[in-house]
Amino acid sequence: MYIDFAKIDPQEQNKLLVSTITPRPIAWVVSQSLQGNVNAAPYSFFNVFSGDPPIIGIGMGSHQDGRPKDSRINIERTGEFVINLVTEDNAEAMNVTAIEFDYDVDELAQAGLATIPSIHVKPPRIAESPVAFECKLVQIVELGPLSGLVLGRVVAMHIWDEAIIDATKHHVDTTKLKLIGRMHRPGWYAKTSDLFRMDRISLAQWRTEHGE
Ligand SMILES: Cc1cc2nc3c(=O)[nH]c(=O)nc-3n(C[C@H](O)[C@H](O)[C@H](O)COP(=O)(O)O)c2cc1C
Repeated sequence: MYIDFAKIDPQEQNKLLVSTITPRPIAWVVSQSLQGNVNAAPYSFFNVFSGDPPIIGIGMGSHQDGRPKDSRINIERTGEFVINLVTEDNAEAMNVTAIEFDYDVDELAQAGLATIPSIHVKPPRIAESPVAFECKLVQIVELGPLSGLVLGRVVAMHIWDEAIIDATKHHVDTTKLKLIGRMHRPGWYAKTSDLFRMDRISLAQWRTEHGE
């Protein structure tokens, strides 16, 4: 089947993208208003785009009535946020924080989650999440009237000690984190426990094996 995006409406384009580009990691974003009200919400249009400099990106849409999402408003105003990663154990609480509460509602309190102060930024991190990145806003790239790409620089990270294999080498036991990703349709998630290993092939190895 061939699908020309010029011939289908935006909701259908979105449906096709999110049901095939899977699994998507989930950024559980904590931000704060200028008055200090804490806000949290999950965003799965999320990934790391550069290791050096350490840059992450989050695609933030708008509410149905066209208003920007609270996380975006806060990040735009304060330039700071924390990304927490979501585990199997966090899934239900994360889902509560996705409810479109009013701007001044603290979703973390609604979900019964605890916070720990950050070091470099004002928004706190989520105590129940094993990995948190303290971020400073680099730029918001406007993608359209209803959508923006938030680019942030990671200035520090927190990770639970039990997930560290070798602290001096920064080796992490990623499988221990039991992170989840977002799948094809709203309400579907993937666990990151079904893994296989495949080493990269060096050019020298390729040439040897192919008699070049
Ligand atoms: C797992 C999950 C992933 C989501 N990913 C996104 C996303 O990438 N972009 C987006 O605009 N909304 C996304 N949402 C919806 C927002 O979380 C939801 O609109 C939330 O209420 C926004 O909160 P805020 O206004 O406090 O920022 C997602 C929801 C869930 C449950």
